[in-house]
Amino acid sequence: TRTPVNVTVTGAAGQIGYALLFRIASGQLLGADVPVKLRLLEITPALKAAEGTAMELDDCAFPLLKGIDITDDPNVAFDGTNVALLVGARPRTKGMERGDLLEANGGIFKPQGKAINDHAADDIKVLVVGNPANTNALIAQAAAPDVPADRFTAMTRLDHNRAVTQLAKKTGVAVSEIRKLTIWGNHSATQYPDIFHAEVAGKNAAEVVNDEKWLAEEFIPTVAKRGAAIIEARGASSAASAANAAIDHVYTWVNGTKEGDWTSMGIVSDGSYGVPEGLISSFPVTTKDGKFEIVQGLEINEFSQSRIDVSVNELKEEREAVRALGLI
Ligand code: NAI
Repeated sequence: TRTPVNVTVTGAAGQIGYALLFRIASGQLLGADVPVKLRLLEITPALKAAEGTAMELDDCAFPLLKGIDITDDPNVAFDGTNVALLVGARPRTKGMERGDLLEANGGIFKPQGKAINDHAADDIKVLVVGNPANTNALIAQAAAPDVPADRFTAMTRLDHNRAVTQLAKKTGVAVSEIRKLTIWGNHSATQYPDIFHAEVAGKNAAEVVNDEKWLAEEFIPTVAKRGAAIIEARGASSAASAANAAIDHVYTWVNGTKEGDWTSMGIVSDGSYGVPEGLISSFPVTTKDGKFEIVQGLEINEFSQSRIDVSVNELKEEREAVRALGLI
Protein backbone atom coordinates (compact mmCIF):
# COMPACT_ATOMS: atom_id res chain seq x y z
CA THR A 1 0.00 0.00 0.00
CA ARG A 2 1.38 3.38 -1.05
CA THR A 3 1.31 6.49 1.12
CA PRO A 4 -1.23 8.92 -0.26
CA VAL A 5 0.04 11.89 -2.26
CA ASN A 6 -1.10 15.23 -0.82
CA VAL A 7 -2.70 17.37 -3.51
CA THR A 8 -3.66 20.97 -2.73
CA VAL A 9 -6.17 22.79 -4.93
CA THR A 10 -6.73 26.51 -4.46
CA GLY A 11 -9.95 28.11 -5.67
CA ALA A 12 -11.52 24.74 -5.00
CA ALA A 13 -15.07 26.14 -4.95
CA GLY A 14 -14.70 27.76 -8.36
CA GLN A 15 -15.78 26.36 -11.70
CA ILE A 16 -12.40 24.84 -12.62
CA GLY A 17 -12.18 23.38 -9.12
CA TYR A 18 -15.51 21.68 -9.64
CA ALA A 19 -14.34 20.14 -12.90
CA LEU A 20 -10.94 19.19 -11.48
CA LEU A 21 -11.44 17.65 -8.04
CA PHE A 22 -13.44 14.61 -9.13
CA ARG A 23 -10.85 13.70 -11.73
CA ILE A 24 -8.01 14.00 -9.21
CA ALA A 25 -9.92 11.84 -6.73
CA SER A 26 -10.59 9.21 -9.39
CA GLY A 27 -6.88 8.79 -10.10
CA GLN A 28 -6.50 10.71 -13.34
CA LEU A 29 -3.98 13.25 -12.04
CA LEU A 30 -1.25 10.88 -10.90
CA GLY A 31 -2.26 7.39 -11.94
CA ALA A 32 -4.91 4.77 -11.34
CA ASP A 33 -2.90 3.17 -8.51
CA VAL A 34 -1.93 6.33 -6.59
CA PRO A 35 -4.00 7.19 -3.48
CA VAL A 36 -4.51 10.91 -2.86
CA LYS A 37 -5.41 13.22 0.00
CA LEU A 38 -7.05 16.46 -1.05
CA ARG A 39 -6.50 19.85 0.55
CA LEU A 40 -8.92 22.51 -0.56
CA LEU A 41 -7.91 26.15 -0.09
CA GLU A 42 -10.58 28.81 -0.44
CA ILE A 43 -11.25 32.31 0.79
CA THR A 44 -13.45 32.38 3.90
CA PRO A 45 -16.75 33.27 2.16
CA ALA A 46 -16.35 30.30 -0.21
CA LEU A 47 -15.58 27.68 2.46
CA LYS A 48 -19.19 26.56 2.64
CA ALA A 49 -19.35 25.97 -1.11
CA ALA A 50 -16.08 24.00 -0.85
CA GLU A 51 -17.69 21.88 1.85
CA GLY A 52 -20.54 21.13 -0.53
CA THR A 53 -18.07 19.93 -3.14
CA ALA A 54 -16.36 17.81 -0.49
CA MET A 55 -19.72 16.22 0.35
CA GLU A 56 -20.13 15.27 -3.29
CA LEU A 57 -16.59 13.87 -3.38
CA ASP A 58 -17.53 11.69 -0.39
CA ASP A 59 -20.62 10.60 -2.25
CA CYS A 60 -18.53 9.25 -5.09
CA ALA A 61 -16.83 6.72 -2.78
CA PHE A 62 -13.61 6.99 -4.78
CA PRO A 63 -11.35 4.13 -3.65
CA LEU A 64 -8.19 6.26 -4.09
CA LEU A 65 -9.43 9.24 -2.07
CA LYS A 66 -7.97 8.98 1.44
CA GLY A 67 -9.15 12.27 2.93
CA ILE A 68 -10.29 15.84 2.29
CA ASP A 69 -9.29 18.89 4.33
CA ILE A 70 -10.81 22.32 3.74
CA THR A 71 -9.16 25.52 4.93
CA ASP A 72 -8.79 29.23 4.31
CA ASP A 73 -5.22 29.24 5.66
CA PRO A 74 -2.42 28.72 3.10
CA ASN A 75 -0.07 27.51 5.85
CA VAL A 76 -2.44 24.63 6.54
CA ALA A 77 -3.33 24.02 2.89
CA PHE A 78 0.29 23.56 1.81
CA ASP A 79 1.52 21.65 4.86
CA GLY A 80 3.29 18.57 3.51
CA THR A 81 1.79 19.01 0.08
CA ASN A 82 3.35 17.16 -2.87
CA VAL A 83 1.34 18.65 -5.73
CA ALA A 84 -0.16 22.14 -5.61
CA LEU A 85 -2.63 23.33 -8.22
CA LEU A 86 -2.97 27.09 -7.86
CA VAL A 87 -6.28 27.79 -9.55
CA GLY A 88 -7.85 30.54 -7.44
CA ALA A 89 -6.99 34.01 -8.70
CA ARG A 90 -8.40 37.50 -8.87
CA PRO A 91 -10.14 37.98 -12.22
CA ARG A 92 -9.92 41.26 -14.09
CA THR A 93 -13.04 43.27 -13.43
CA LYS A 94 -14.36 46.36 -15.17
CA GLY A 95 -12.12 49.40 -14.94
CA MET A 96 -9.18 47.39 -13.64
CA GLU A 97 -5.80 48.27 -15.16
CA ARG A 98 -3.18 45.61 -15.73
CA GLY A 99 -1.15 46.98 -12.81
CA ASP A 100 -4.18 46.59 -10.50
CA LEU A 101 -4.63 43.02 -11.70
CA LEU A 102 -0.99 42.13 -11.08
CA GLU A 103 -1.10 43.74 -7.66
CA ALA A 104 -4.31 41.96 -6.62
CA ASN A 105 -2.85 38.62 -7.71
CA GLY A 106 0.44 39.38 -6.02
CA GLY A 107 -1.58 39.57 -2.82
CA ILE A 108 -2.64 35.96 -3.43
CA PHE A 109 0.41 34.32 -4.99
CA LYS A 110 3.13 35.87 -2.83
CA PRO A 111 1.78 34.49 0.48
CA GLN A 112 0.96 31.18 -1.18
CA GLY A 113 4.53 30.95 -2.49
CA LYS A 114 5.83 31.66 1.01
CA ALA A 115 3.53 29.03 2.54
CA ILE A 116 4.77 26.51 -0.04
CA ASN A 117 8.35 27.49 0.81
CA ASP A 118 7.78 27.00 4.53
CA HIS A 119 5.50 23.96 4.64
CA ALA A 120 5.39 21.90 1.43
CA ALA A 121 7.04 18.49 1.01
CA ASP A 122 10.53 18.32 -0.50
CA ASP A 123 9.22 16.92 -3.77
CA ILE A 124 6.63 19.70 -4.22
CA LYS A 125 5.43 20.34 -7.78
CA VAL A 126 3.41 23.48 -8.45
CA LEU A 127 1.14 24.24 -11.37
CA VAL A 128 -0.28 27.75 -11.64
CA VAL A 129 -3.56 27.91 -13.56
CA GLY A 130 -4.94 31.22 -12.24
CA ASN A 131 -4.31 34.15 -14.56
CA PRO A 132 -2.06 35.89 -15.40
CA ALA A 133 -0.62 32.39 -14.95
CA ASN A 134 3.02 32.92 -15.97
CA THR A 135 3.52 35.99 -13.84
CA ASN A 136 1.55 34.59 -10.90
CA ALA A 137 3.89 31.59 -11.07
CA LEU A 138 6.87 33.95 -11.08
CA ILE A 139 5.55 35.74 -8.00
CA ALA A 140 4.99 32.46 -6.13
CA GLN A 141 8.40 31.14 -7.20
CA ALA A 142 10.19 34.29 -6.08
CA ALA A 143 8.53 33.98 -2.66
CA ALA A 144 9.87 30.42 -2.29
CA PRO A 145 13.69 30.73 -2.34
CA ASP A 146 14.19 27.35 -0.64
CA VAL A 147 12.28 25.45 -3.34
CA PRO A 148 14.08 24.69 -6.62
CA ALA A 149 12.76 27.21 -9.17
CA ASP A 150 11.90 24.49 -11.67
CA ARG A 151 9.14 23.18 -9.39
CA PHE A 152 7.01 26.21 -10.30
CA THR A 153 5.22 25.89 -13.62
CA ALA A 154 2.44 27.73 -15.43
CA MET A 155 -0.23 26.14 -17.55
CA THR A 156 -0.10 26.43 -21.33
CA ARG A 157 -1.35 22.89 -21.86
CA LEU A 158 -4.86 24.10 -22.66
CA ASP A 159 -3.41 26.21 -25.47
CA HIS A 160 -1.35 23.21 -26.56
CA ASN A 161 -4.39 20.93 -26.63
CA ARG A 162 -6.42 23.55 -28.48
CA ALA A 163 -3.68 23.82 -31.11
CA VAL A 164 -3.48 20.02 -31.49
CA THR A 165 -7.19 19.83 -32.29
CA GLN A 166 -7.16 22.77 -34.72
CA LEU A 167 -4.23 21.22 -36.61
CA ALA A 168 -5.85 17.78 -36.63
CA LYS A 169 -9.06 19.25 -38.05
CA LYS A 170 -7.22 21.20 -40.74
CA THR A 171 -5.22 18.18 -41.90
CA GLY A 172 -7.96 15.59 -41.48
CA VAL A 173 -6.12 13.29 -39.08
CA ALA A 174 -6.90 12.02 -35.59
CA VAL A 175 -5.54 14.12 -32.72
CA SER A 176 -3.32 11.16 -31.79
CA GLU A 177 -1.46 11.67 -35.10
CA ILE A 178 -0.30 15.17 -34.08
CA ARG A 179 3.08 15.37 -32.36
CA LYS A 180 5.68 17.93 -31.29
CA LEU A 181 3.52 21.00 -31.29
CA THR A 182 4.84 23.90 -29.22
CA ILE A 183 3.26 26.83 -27.41
CA TRP A 184 5.90 29.52 -26.84
CA GLY A 185 5.75 32.46 -24.48
CA ASN A 186 2.95 33.78 -22.32
CA HIS A 187 -0.46 32.23 -21.65
CA SER A 188 -2.16 35.26 -23.18
CA ALA A 189 -3.28 36.47 -26.58
CA THR A 190 0.41 36.93 -27.54
CA GLN A 191 1.24 33.22 -27.16
CA TYR A 192 2.70 31.56 -30.23
CA PRO A 193 1.51 28.10 -31.27
CA ASP A 194 4.32 26.72 -33.47
CA ILE A 195 3.67 24.02 -36.07
CA PHE A 196 7.05 24.27 -37.85
CA HIS A 197 8.45 21.35 -35.86
CA ALA A 198 5.14 19.59 -35.40
CA GLU A 199 4.28 16.34 -37.15
CA VAL A 200 1.07 15.23 -38.81
CA ALA A 201 1.11 11.43 -39.09
CA GLY A 202 4.91 11.56 -39.12
CA LYS A 203 5.25 14.31 -41.76
CA ASN A 204 6.26 17.91 -41.09
CA ALA A 205 3.08 19.83 -40.22
CA ALA A 206 4.04 23.11 -41.89
CA GLU A 207 4.71 21.23 -45.14
CA VAL A 208 1.49 19.25 -44.91
CA VAL A 209 -0.51 22.44 -44.27
CA ASN A 210 1.50 24.52 -46.76
CA ASP A 211 -0.73 27.55 -46.21
CA GLU A 212 0.90 30.51 -44.50
CA LYS A 213 -2.29 32.55 -44.77
CA TRP A 214 -4.21 29.93 -42.76
CA LEU A 215 -1.39 29.79 -40.27
CA ALA A 216 -1.21 33.55 -39.71
CA GLU A 217 -4.85 34.47 -40.11
CA GLU A 218 -6.75 31.45 -38.81
CA PHE A 219 -4.73 28.96 -36.81
CA ILE A 220 -2.73 31.31 -34.59
CA PRO A 221 -5.61 33.69 -33.76
CA THR A 222 -8.07 30.80 -33.23
CA VAL A 223 -5.78 29.19 -30.66
CA ALA A 224 -4.73 32.47 -29.02
CA LYS A 225 -8.28 33.84 -28.77
CA ARG A 226 -10.04 30.58 -27.97
CA GLY A 227 -10.62 31.59 -24.35
CA ALA A 228 -12.59 34.66 -25.46
CA ALA A 229 -14.55 32.58 -27.99
CA ILE A 230 -15.56 30.14 -25.22
CA ILE A 231 -16.76 33.01 -23.02
CA GLU A 232 -18.73 34.41 -25.96
CA ALA A 233 -20.40 31.04 -26.64
CA ARG A 234 -20.84 29.65 -23.14
CA GLY A 235 -21.34 32.81 -21.16
CA ALA A 236 -18.60 31.59 -18.81
CA SER A 237 -14.90 30.96 -19.20
CA SER A 238 -13.49 27.56 -20.08
CA ALA A 239 -13.62 25.29 -17.06
CA ALA A 240 -13.77 21.58 -17.95
CA SER A 241 -11.16 21.99 -20.69
CA ALA A 242 -8.94 23.98 -18.32
CA ALA A 243 -9.30 21.29 -15.65
CA ASN A 244 -8.51 18.66 -18.27
CA ALA A 245 -5.36 20.52 -19.25
CA ALA A 246 -4.28 20.78 -15.60
CA ILE A 247 -4.71 17.01 -15.30
CA ASP A 248 -2.70 16.49 -18.50
CA HIS A 249 0.05 18.88 -17.36
CA VAL A 250 0.66 17.17 -14.02
CA TYR A 251 0.14 13.63 -15.35
CA THR A 252 2.73 14.26 -18.07
CA TRP A 253 5.15 15.91 -15.62
CA VAL A 254 4.96 12.94 -13.26
CA ASN A 255 4.61 10.09 -15.74
CA GLY A 256 6.62 11.31 -18.75
CA THR A 257 6.09 12.37 -22.35
CA LYS A 258 5.71 9.69 -25.03
CA GLU A 259 8.73 8.64 -27.06
CA GLY A 260 8.91 10.89 -30.14
CA ASP A 261 6.69 13.60 -28.71
CA TRP A 262 6.88 16.58 -26.38
CA THR A 263 4.52 18.92 -24.59
CA SER A 264 4.29 22.63 -23.71
CA MET A 265 4.79 23.96 -20.19
CA GLY A 266 5.42 27.39 -18.74
CA ILE A 267 8.71 26.93 -16.88
CA VAL A 268 11.55 29.04 -15.55
CA SER A 269 13.79 29.93 -18.48
CA ASP A 270 17.46 28.93 -18.36
CA GLY A 271 18.14 31.31 -21.25
CA SER A 272 17.31 28.74 -23.95
CA TYR A 273 16.15 30.18 -27.28
CA GLY A 274 17.12 33.67 -26.10
CA VAL A 275 14.31 33.81 -23.51
CA PRO A 276 15.75 35.83 -20.59
CA GLU A 277 16.75 33.69 -17.64
CA GLY A 278 14.23 33.53 -14.84
CA LEU A 279 11.13 34.41 -16.87
CA ILE A 280 8.38 31.81 -16.69
CA SER A 281 7.75 31.19 -20.36
CA SER A 282 6.25 28.31 -22.33
CA PHE A 283 8.71 25.97 -24.05
CA PRO A 284 8.69 22.58 -25.76
CA VAL A 285 9.62 20.09 -23.04
CA THR A 286 10.10 16.39 -22.59
CA THR A 287 9.47 14.84 -19.19
CA LYS A 288 10.83 11.73 -17.54
CA ASP A 289 10.87 10.44 -13.95
CA GLY A 290 9.20 13.60 -12.64
CA LYS A 291 11.71 15.95 -14.28
CA PHE A 292 11.53 17.97 -17.48
CA GLU A 293 13.98 19.25 -20.04
CA ILE A 294 13.61 21.93 -22.69
CA VAL A 295 13.86 20.44 -26.18
CA GLN A 296 17.10 21.90 -27.55
CA GLY A 297 18.43 22.64 -31.02
CA LEU A 298 15.20 23.54 -32.82
CA GLU A 299 15.75 25.90 -35.70
CA ILE A 300 13.52 28.92 -35.27
CA ASN A 301 12.60 30.66 -38.52
CA GLU A 302 11.89 34.37 -38.87
CA PHE A 303 8.12 33.91 -38.82
CA SER A 304 8.36 32.11 -35.48
CA GLN A 305 11.08 34.29 -33.94
CA SER A 306 9.16 37.52 -34.43
CA ARG A 307 6.10 36.03 -32.71
CA ILE A 308 8.09 34.49 -29.86
CA ASP A 309 9.73 37.90 -29.32
CA VAL A 310 6.36 39.64 -28.95
CA SER A 311 5.18 37.20 -26.30
CA VAL A 312 8.49 37.14 -24.42
CA ASN A 313 8.54 40.95 -24.43
CA GLU A 314 5.13 40.92 -22.80
CA LEU A 315 6.49 38.60 -20.10
CA LYS A 316 9.44 40.95 -19.57
CA GLU A 317 7.03 43.87 -19.12
CA GLU A 318 4.95 41.89 -16.64
CA ARG A 319 8.11 41.03 -14.71
CA GLU A 320 9.13 44.71 -14.65
CA ALA A 321 5.66 45.66 -13.43
CA VAL A 322 5.63 43.16 -10.54
CA ARG A 323 9.20 44.10 -9.68
CA ALA A 324 8.15 47.76 -9.47
CA LEU A 325 5.29 46.71 -7.19
CA GLY A 326 7.75 44.92 -4.91
CA LEU A 327 6.09 41.56 -5.58
CA ILE A 328 9.30 39.80 -6.62
P1 NAI B 1 -13.86 31.01 -10.51
O1 NAI B 1 -14.05 32.47 -10.26
O2 NAI B 1 -15.03 30.15 -10.83
O3 NAI B 1 -13.15 30.37 -9.24
C1 NAI B 1 -12.05 30.95 -8.61
C2 NAI B 1 -12.10 30.56 -7.16
O4 NAI B 1 -10.90 31.01 -6.54
C3 NAI B 1 -13.26 31.18 -6.39
O5 NAI B 1 -14.00 30.15 -5.74
C4 NAI B 1 -12.57 32.10 -5.39
O6 NAI B 1 -13.25 32.15 -4.14
C5 NAI B 1 -11.22 31.41 -5.25
N1 NAI B 1 -10.17 32.27 -4.70
C6 NAI B 1 -9.98 33.59 -4.88
N2 NAI B 1 -8.93 34.02 -4.16
C7 NAI B 1 -8.44 32.96 -3.52
C8 NAI B 1 -7.36 32.77 -2.61
N3 NAI B 1 -6.60 33.81 -2.22
N4 NAI B 1 -7.15 31.54 -2.12
C9 NAI B 1 -7.92 30.51 -2.50
N5 NAI B 1 -8.97 30.62 -3.34
C10 NAI B 1 -9.22 31.83 -3.85
O7 NAI B 1 -12.75 30.93 -11.64
P2 NAI B 1 -12.38 29.67 -12.56
O8 NAI B 1 -13.21 29.69 -13.78
O9 NAI B 1 -12.34 28.45 -11.74
O10 NAI B 1 -10.90 30.08 -13.03
C11 NAI B 1 -9.83 30.16 -12.12
C12 NAI B 1 -8.64 30.83 -12.76
O11 NAI B 1 -8.13 30.05 -13.82
C13 NAI B 1 -8.91 32.21 -13.35
O12 NAI B 1 -7.84 33.06 -13.00
C14 NAI B 1 -8.90 31.95 -14.84
O13 NAI B 1 -8.55 33.11 -15.56
C15 NAI B 1 -7.83 30.90 -14.92
N6 NAI B 1 -7.82 30.10 -16.16
C16 NAI B 1 -6.59 29.76 -16.66
C17 NAI B 1 -6.49 28.99 -17.80
C18 NAI B 1 -5.15 28.62 -18.36
O14 NAI B 1 -5.13 28.04 -19.45
N7 NAI B 1 -4.02 28.88 -17.71
C19 NAI B 1 -7.70 28.53 -18.51
C20 NAI B 1 -8.92 28.90 -17.88
C21 NAI B 1 -8.97 29.67 -16.75
